[in-house]
This record gives sequence, C-alpha cells and structure tokens, in this order.
Amino acid sequence: MATQARLTPLGDLASRLFATRRLALDLAEPLSDADATIQPFPDASPAKWHLAHTTWFFETFVLRDHAPGYRAFDEHNAFLFNSYYEAEGPRHSRPRRGMLSRPSLDEVRAYRAHVDEALERVLPALPPGALDLIELGINHEQQHQELFLTDILATFAENPLEPAYGELPPPGCFAVEPLSWHGGREGIVEIGAGDTGFAFDSERPRHRVFLSGHEIANRRATNEEWREFIADGGYRTPTLWLSEGWDWVQREQVSAPLYWRGDESEFTLGGLREIDWAAPVAHVSYYEADAFARWGGARLPTEAEWEDFAASADPALGNQLSQPGAVVPSPGGGVFGDVWEWTQSAFASYPGFAPPAGAVGEYNGKFMCGQFVLKGASCATPLGHSRASYRNFFPPHARWQFTGVRLARDA
Ligand SMILES: [Fe+2]
Repeated sequence: MATQARLTPLGDLASRLFATRRLALDLAEPLSDADATIQPFPDASPAKWHLAHTTWFFETFVLRDHAPGYRAFDEHNAFLFNSYYEAEGPRHSRPRRGMLSRPSLDEVRAYRAHVDEALERVLPALPPGALDLIELGINHEQQHQELFLTDILATFAENPLEPAYGELPPPGCFAVEPLSWHGGREGIVEIGAGDTGFAFDSERPRHRVFLSGHEIANRRATNEEWREFIADGGYRTPTLWLSEGWDWVQREQVSAPLYWRGDESEFTLGGLREIDWAAPVAHVSYYEADAFARWGGARLPTEAEWEDFAASADPALGNQLSQPGAVVPSPGGGVFGDVWEWTQSAFASYPGFAPPAGAVGEYNGKFMCGQFVLKGASCATPLGHSRASYRNFFPPHARWQFTGVRLARDA
C-alpha cells in the first residue's frame, strides 16, 4: 500500500512534468531558427533561450544535485543559460542573449531531449526534496511559456512583414457586460497561500490584512473605454499621471497601448488585426493603468482587495483559467484570463516570508524592489498555472506582457 501511495503522486508529477516539457516544444514548432534567436529588447529573451534556460534549471537543481553520475550535456550551458542565480556563478550578459546564434534551435532541442531522458530515468529514485524541485521546475517552465509567447509577440511586432505566430479566435467572443461595482468586504481578511499544495515562496505565509470599505469592478477595462480615455486627452493631461509616469509618457512618446497601430488596428500573435473594442485592453503599463483609473474617478485595487474579491467570486468563475499555452482568450467576465491585472501593491515580502535554502532561494525574494503585483492570469498563461494567491510582478514601465486594468474605488 505504501508503494502504491507513493506511485500515484509520482505518476501525476511525471505526467505533468513531461506534458509541460512537451508543450514548450509545441510552442516552438512554428518558429524558424532565426525567429527563435532574436531578442527584441533587453528585458525580453529569445525563444531559444527560454527553451534552454528551463532545461538548465532541471539539469542543475535536480540532475546535478540529486542524480549521482549525471553527465552534463554541454558544460558551456551553465554560463549561457543561467538567468540570474548568483550562487551558480558567472553567466552570459542578459541584454546580449540575442547574440547567441549558436547553439542552434535544433541543438537546444537535443539538449532538452538529453535532460528529459535523464529526468525520466532518475525520477523514481529521487528524494522528496528533489521532487519539490521538479514541481518548482514545472511551474518555472510554465512561467517561461508565457514569456515565450510575449517575447515572440514583441519579436514579430518589430518585423514590417507583420508575421503571424498563430491563429486567434474570431472577434466578438468577449461578453460586453455593463460596468458594475462589487461591494468588497471591510475588516480583517486573510490572503496568501495556505500550507498545502504548490505555491511560490512569495505567496506565503497566509496572513491577515485589514481592508477598508471599497468596491471593485465586475470586469476589466475594455479597449472601447481606453479609446475614450485617449479621445479625452488622457495621454496629454499631466494631472492624471504620477510624476514618474508623466516623465515616461513624454520620454517614450507613448500615446496608446503598446501594440495599437493607428486608430483601428493592433498587432497580435495572429498578426495585424482590427481592434476588438469589446475586448479587455492589454499591453498597458502600471503608469497607464494608474492614469486611466484616475481619469475614471477610480483607482487600482490593492492585491488584498483583488484576492478577497477572487475568493468571494463564483467558484466556477474563479477557477476559469485560460487554455494551455494558448493564444485563445477566454471570455472577458471571469476573474482569471485575458490579461493580468495591475494592483497598486508593491511586490514585497509577506510577514514571516522565508525563501527556501540554496540557490532557488533567489527565485523571488531578491526582486522585491521597484515592482508591482499583478493578479489573475492572461490568455498566454498555461492552464492551471495561476490561482487567487498568485503574485505576478513587473516594474511599472513594463507593458509587453498581457497586462490590463480592473478598477476599484473607496466606499
Ligand atoms: Fe527562469
């Protein structure tokens, strides 16, 4: 019986591991070696790099550290594909990842196959601590699957030929609900992940916070509403903006969401498309989200308000996650999906936060400076990856992710 009890969760872990590894390869299928090599700007990474870096993560933290006798595929890969782990030594410069014409995409595929075969071989004998690292590696790879898609969108957006990565659903799939306001709870509530199940270290521990009286919008802001913001001079009115945001708007000459092209079109993973005015606005920065909210007589929610709202929503709605690695948006009314939602909360540690020992302790904690929390999920988030306690984070100028806005206001 004991063996059986061990086999079931291990089997589940293995199937999720190899399904996740397979999905990453599927996402790369439409790309040429050149497509997969370009780095459109320093914060984005080449598709090929994502495929190799997630493989290095398993090779280093699972195989090297827990599989005696494992032989590295290529000793150069530790330098090339370590992202930011100081404990793992020197690494290639992040802004120069696009200079790596070699290894080729096919050589990266061979690296992945080598590591996958080793993982399959050693998995039954791994100690519990290593199985936790497999779980972390799955969730890490899912994060990179979303980055893979947003970075390919940024790459193709640079190309005057306007290439399409994949098909999008027909327009008009978004339900246009009238804006209404949900009365949020006032008082002490709990947020954060509980003790069971996977969560990133930054989501724990679960703890109490006080919520003042507030209301939160039933849906995300739409492209139509963003068009009204633009028409009303939103990008030209300094009193709507944070000082840093106004500097950014002027310096970067920002006048619309990142991928809008002219008055009617936007560049998408499906190529150039007519803007779907009923769809949630996407690819806006924290600065823009904040200015838009002020223009609308509202503000951005705090992460605690958002999380309490998600927990109180219809459970069926709350669990409505987007499709795996998809370019298919889910309907606009749910709590999860379409776009990540900016909150006004800084990405900071929760009371009692304790990063894990070892190099993976660098995973989140050292980024708790100058970034804001985003909640929910996007159309590019793999199925089942997010949850109410999930804390995505980006600096306030970032907008190449699928980022949007849900309004809140004091009550
Ligand atoms: Fe990573």
